[in-house]
Amino acid sequence: TFVVTENCIKCKYTDCVEVCPVDCFHEGPNFLVIDPEECIDCTLCEPECPAEAIFAEDDLPENQAEFKKLNAELAKTWPVITEKQPQPADAKDWDGKPGKLQLLER
Ligand code: SF4
Ligand code: F3S
Repeated sequence: TFVVTENCIKCKYTDCVEVCPVDCFHEGPNFLVIDPEECIDCTLCEPECPAEAIFAEDDLPENQAEFKKLNAELAKTWPVITEKQPQPADAKDWDGKPGKLQLLER
């Protein structure tokens, strides 16, 4: 499965959702997650993310390991998103900022 990681938080560009053939992205207030039970490993979303926040599970950086569980957990309650939304006005300012996990809204 593929996993959305920390750099998506407060960037939330949503380019990723348009290419997913099985609609497995779910949307929260300032972050998106992939439902691991739906993802078919097609790889299409990974290069679409301007924030480079999407990784194959096997390529997940060590310091992003907890996002695997977080994607699975949040996908259960957040609604599906299939259409690109306008990005947050300050998305660029947050791109690459460390320590965004504590800013995750549920
Ligand atoms: Fe969707 Fe493919 Fe990305 Fe999985 S790898 S989330 S199926 S676009
Ligand atoms: Fe997030 Fe990248 Fe998609 S910032 S919303 S994973 S395009």
